[in-house]
Amino acid sequence: MDHIPREFISLLLDKVDLVDLISARLPIKKKSANNFFACCPFHNEKTPSFSVNQAKQFYYCFGCGEHGNAIDFLMKYDHLGFVETIETLARQVGLEVPRTQHQEDKQDTTAPLYAITAEAAAFYQAQLKKSPRAIDYLKQRGLSGTIAKQFGLGYAPAQWEQLLQQFGDTAQNKQKLLQAGLTIKKEDGGYYDRFRDRIMFPIHDRRGRIIGFGGRIIDQGEPKYLNSPETPIFQKGQELYGLYQSLQANRKLNRLLVVEGYMDVIALFQHGINYAVATLGTATTPHHLHQLLRYTNEIIFCFDGDEAGRRAAWRAFEVVLPMMHDELQIKFMFLPEGDDPDTLVAREGKERFEEQLSKALTFTNFFFHHQLQQADLSSMDGRARFTAQALVYIKQLAPGVLQEMLLDELAKKARITAEQLKQQTGHTQSVSAKRIANGRQIKSQTTTPLRLALILLVQHPELAHHISEPLPELSLPAYPFFIKLIEICRQHPHLTTGGLLEFWREQKEEKLLAKLASWELVIPETGVKEEFLGAIRGLTRSAHDQVIQRMLAKAAQQGLSDEEKSQLTQLIADK
Ligand code: UTP
Ligand code: MN
Repeated sequence: MDHIPREFISLLLDKVDLVDLISARLPIKKKSANNFFACCPFHNEKTPSFSVNQAKQFYYCFGCGEHGNAIDFLMKYDHLGFVETIETLARQVGLEVPRTQHQEDKQDTTAPLYAITAEAAAFYQAQLKKSPRAIDYLKQRGLSGTIAKQFGLGYAPAQWEQLLQQFGDTAQNKQKLLQAGLTIKKEDGGYYDRFRDRIMFPIHDRRGRIIGFGGRIIDQGEPKYLNSPETPIFQKGQELYGLYQSLQANRKLNRLLVVEGYMDVIALFQHGINYAVATLGTATTPHHLHQLLRYTNEIIFCFDGDEAGRRAAWRAFEVVLPMMHDELQIKFMFLPEGDDPDTLVAREGKERFEEQLSKALTFTNFFFHHQLQQADLSSMDGRARFTAQALVYIKQLAPGVLQEMLLDELAKKARITAEQLKQQTGHTQSVSAKRIANGRQIKSQTTTPLRLALILLVQHPELAHHISEPLPELSLPAYPFFIKLIEICRQHPHLTTGGLLEFWREQKEEKLLAKLASWELVIPETGVKEEFLGAIRGLTRSAHDQVIQRMLAKAAQQGLSDEEKSQLTQLIADK
């Protein structure tokens, strides 16, 4: 990421105009001086809630929460990687992307790994053709030659040094095999092949590069699947088996089915259900979900019908919850005992399988189903407990139609009035009235000075130049981040919100920044500077208070020197 010089990215964002970029792709309407609206390209909707701010160079969808600058937009809209996006934008404005040394270093480390995994996959594929035993096994599992080819299935021969002999001719190549996870280092310094006598499932990233493998034992044995270890090009918690093939098979993905196993994905494809992905032996992570939501608005999780399946489903629910919104459809399908998607689709066929899919539990139904399992609704106590439990989750949703529906349903089940419930969630006014603001509207007097200063600075980076006094020393969690923001804004006089966000791409503060950038403030543009300076004064006051608190604590514990005492008196008097 940092191999393209940061200054170049800033320059690029300066030259590109987000409104031009978007209006070349979508019909977009001007609402006010700086604000444009369109129907969101990232979720289905009929009334426009996708807003683009020209001054801020930032877009935000009130419906689905998608947001970002010109780079984000192009990455999402055209499904491009970061570097590809930079190159595309640079071409558009007639700039050449400069490369630093760092970039070459980086390329040198991963490019050879992609090359070796591709070579290994081709080798395994060729070996499959020569192994009647492996072919028989796949046939017996019901796979056609076509599907085996589509997924690049292969076979790793039952020998310790096949890959090694084939590709490990030089010390450098041996090193590559090791780094790609294809061989294992022996105690005495030699190497041996990781995968032996196994059916090989290459794992592709969404661009189609092979990043790792799963290897299944033929028939019985332990472990059933052996997977590539984490390598510089393979991170298990991030990849989804079958996503590449699903993207290839569908120009637009109306939905994606999430299953557990390699074989499930392949069997589903073979039966015409070409929108299935599997996590790689791990539970669904937020990262997975994020990936999936780039391509579709409907996700169906498929689980075993047993207790373990229920638990896994609830874990997935908890991952989805913070990302849930009104336009998203999340469903949970439970399989009959003893079935997995592979056996079910083989027995029932595409149509009947899809019929079952359509009967999957909705997000709401699954939620109550799960909550009710442990609830006792016959007593008042039980209903109170149930209500409190359920509210913990419902409160995590953004205000909107879905939350409203869940509250209504909860009220019905707990036999209390919806009004009583809404008071508990702080929902005193109609949710739909607030909906467009997505619960983000705040008044300056209801937030802390630091939060207000952060929001204003992110939305108006030029404010950094209006601070005339040195910033106070303050120990608050987000304060160092605020200082850093000020610093960057001061170094880059013409920075927009979109440009500022770029400095934090893929860093942990990224999310917070996006939230600050899309926060709806009810402050007129003309009052922004005053509010900001007011917030800074608030910070100075907090700093004062912190010093006083510290001195008071010290006074109580070990006493103060005369000098400190007079300092304290002065501080308190200043207040
Ligand atoms: P399953 O046992 O359901 O696998 O494990 P499957 O794909 O249905 O395999 P078949 O039908 O028996 O051939 C689900 C997933 O868990 C991971 C794999 O990713 C597998 O696809 N797993 C399972 C492992 O990583 N190692 C194992 O030993 C078993
Ligand atoms: Mn299976």
